Amino acid sequence: MDINSARLIFFSPTETTARIVDGIAQGIRPDIVNSIDLTPPENRSRDFEEMRDELAIIGTPVYGGRIPREAAHRLRQIKGNNTPAVIIVVYGNREYEDALLELRDIVTDLGFVPIAGGAFIGEHSYDSENTPIATGRPDPQDIEKAKQFGESIQEKIGKIRTLDDMPPLNVPGDFPYKKWDPPSDMAPITVEALCTLCGECATVCPTAAITVGDAVVTDPKECIYCSACVKKCPTGARVWDSPWIEQVTKRLSANCRERKEPQIYL
Ligand SMILES: Cc1cc2nc3c(=O)[nH]c(=O)nc-3n(C[C@H](O)[C@H](O)[C@H](O)COP(=O)(O)O)c2cc1C
Ligand code: SF4
Ligand code: SF4
Repeated sequence: MDINSARLIFFSPTETTARIVDGIAQGIRPDIVNSIDLTPPENRSRDFEEMRDELAIIGTPVYGGRIPREAAHRLRQIKGNNTPAVIIVVYGNREYEDALLELRDIVTDLGFVPIAGGAFIGEHSYDSENTPIATGRPDPQDIEKAKQFGESIQEKIGKIRTLDDMPPLNVPGDFPYKKWDPPSDMAPITVEALCTLCGECATVCPTAAITVGDAVVTDPKECIYCSACVKKCPTGARVWDSPWIEQVTKRLSANCRERKEPQIYL
């Protein structure tokens, strides 16, 4: 099978997933690479053209061992037509549990044929100086592994004659998927004394939960807890003030120190 073009499709509030899918594409080296970044709020509801003779490289973070609900919803707007796909989940050095299986099932329903999968590690959304969790990942070693994975995918594609008789891609995970119900209506707060009203938090928020005028206003009902606003605020004015997040973050920082390595499924 010949593949000349690839389309990177990803949801990535803090950009670790975006960097991994990009690394994989560098290994495959198609002539044309297009991207669909599903993260901005305008991609919540959009019509995308059906994909055909391209390779889709589809990536999302792991939230609670699952695909973030918001990512699953946005992915469902994209359609394949017997289109080969590489499926990627990126997690914060805890576990990815049923996320890769869930992503495989979603993209298969959408008309894609998963030919390879991977679980990579990204700096945890709740990483901080006091509670480090996979700080700085993906690092150069991870990106090199992503590229090498891309090269292996290229090799596999060369050996595939038709997608019609491809056996289903085996990935770990259980069905019914793990349940994950975090508390509702949480959102980071803004420390007014530190805020310059620059608007960066509103720009990076994937759900348009933040409005910046004379003050920063956040709608907690829209917040998906992604922490993009916290990580991107240039003055440290966006912070979590939630006992749940504090408890989770302390536990993860203490228990998930051992470096995990990417796992690939071909
Ligand atoms: C709400 C939420 C839940 C998360 N759940 C998990 C998890 O179950 N396991 C894990 O290892 N990391 C978990 N993470 C960390 C992210 O998967 C990780 O930081 C990932 O790199 C973020 O991707 P992004 O940079 O593309 O947004 C979670 C992060 C958030 C915000
Ligand atoms: S990014 Fe930080 S400084 Fe800028 S408006 Fe938001 S909270 Fe204020
Ligand atoms: S307000 Fe919530 S959804 Fe928006 S960037 Fe911040 S954590 Fe993410």
